[in-house]
Amino acid sequence: MSAEYDLVIRGGTLVTSTDVFRADIAVQNGRIAAIGENLSGKRAIDADGLLVIPGGVDTHCHLDQVEPGMGYGAQDFVTGSRSAVLGGTTSAISFVSQFKGEPIREVLAETLKRGRRSIIDYSFHQILADPTDDVIAELPAIIASGIRSLKVFLTYDAIRLDDRQYLRVLAAARREGAMVAVHCENYDAIGWLTEQLLAAGLTAPKYHAWSRPKVVEREATYRAIALAELVDTPIQVFHVSCAEVAEEIGRAQRRGLKVWGETCPQYFTLTAADMDRPGLEGAKYMCSPSPRDEADHEGLWEMMRQGVIDVVSSDDSAFNTTGHHAKDQNGPKAPFSAIPNGVPGVGARMPLLFSEGVVKGQIDLPTFVALSATNPARIYGLEGRKGSLMPGADADIVLWDPNKKQTITNALLQHGVDYTPYEGREVTGWPVMTIRRGEIVMQDGQMVAAEGSGAFLAREPYELARPLGRLANGFDAASYDTPGAAR
Ligand code: URP
Ligand code: ZN
Ligand code: ZN
Repeated sequence: MSAEYDLVIRGGTLVTSTDVFRADIAVQNGRIAAIGENLSGKRAIDADGLLVIPGGVDTHCHLDQVEPGMGYGAQDFVTGSRSAVLGGTTSAISFVSQFKGEPIREVLAETLKRGRRSIIDYSFHQILADPTDDVIAELPAIIASGIRSLKVFLTYDAIRLDDRQYLRVLAAARREGAMVAVHCENYDAIGWLTEQLLAAGLTAPKYHAWSRPKVVEREATYRAIALAELVDTPIQVFHVSCAEVAEEIGRAQRRGLKVWGETCPQYFTLTAADMDRPGLEGAKYMCSPSPRDEADHEGLWEMMRQGVIDVVSSDDSAFNTTGHHAKDQNGPKAPFSAIPNGVPGVGARMPLLFSEGVVKGQIDLPTFVALSATNPARIYGLEGRKGSLMPGADADIVLWDPNKKQTITNALLQHGVDYTPYEGREVTGWPVMTIRRGEIVMQDGQMVAAEGSGAFLAREPYELARPLGRLANGFDAASYDTPGAAR
């Protein structure tokens, strides 16, 4: 007699990062227990006509992140994770901030507290804005606690690192076995271009794109990779906007370096022309790097097909149009340089990737799963646990109707923001049920999970984040760059 599982999903088409096949899938104690035929369970769900995919893993979204001078973001762990499960995402990695001149510990404690309200499972990247000796000394304990990735910005006034500081962070990551995620844009080039645009009276939101053309992103990407090679630290380049930037990553990968690339739906759906709307309407589409143009969308799909870009995250970085944490914080007519950057998208991420990617023939089903779940889990130390339908993995499963048509509206996404840049966009393919660790958390567009039922994902040391062991001259400079070392 066959085993009686807690839950069996019957007759669906399973999609993994490598295969598409019809099978039943069984869940026991919150984990995937078996894949096969005629499985039986105490509870059965009929998935005939549906795709059965791993719950999405969004490794870049700013939920409940505190920002210098602005307090906590528009998207908190409750609104963000509600929208996430509606869109088929069951795990996310958000951020712990760090402010210049301040230690990490207080922000970390407060952010961990806020995370406890999450519905999806969650972890954090630790941002480093000021890698002083004291801050570097805090890192071993933070990384050992499961926050096994660091985030740095090579631009933005309040948080950017210069090259010397970036090298220090790479060195600390190398010593502790952490991945480094990098925002790559050239700070001085953007500052100089912005000054000239403002001097010329070119202040409307559309000039945001002019202030940071592709070359600014490409230069910083090249530099970020070269310095990571010098220190021998694995990195991921965040939010790649176009093929020219991805080519820098591809070149590094062909040389055997541990460099990965991420893009986001805004870079294959929006263009710089979206910002060419009056005032705050244009500001709704403003993010960094800037959206480019339609030819760049094609280039990004090619880079995803080639595997140079292996993750699609949301970079949900939400500002309301007006009110709390808003685009209009410096007035409705502020110049582009005084409008905060970022767009919401944690709920729209998977439907946009499916509709623009799979339905339009840009990528196949396994690539959709790889980009949205399996690869992000692997790159950030969650392999075997998240992003896969393998027996033993957490039973994070989405039942996806590949034919369901939806018109995206702000209300549909149920997030914490007063707009979506995808308002009115028609998509084909939509999740009808989301299961997190064996529990149904979304059914037919309604979240049915309790606030706080998400679990913190402490990430263990993992092979992918280890250095290659290739050092210039064989000298391990990182091992000397420790807090308090004689210099
Ligand atoms: O414009 C963006 N992407 N804002 C969010 C912060 C970041 O750069 O990731
Ligand atoms: Zn960024
Ligand atoms: Zn971001």
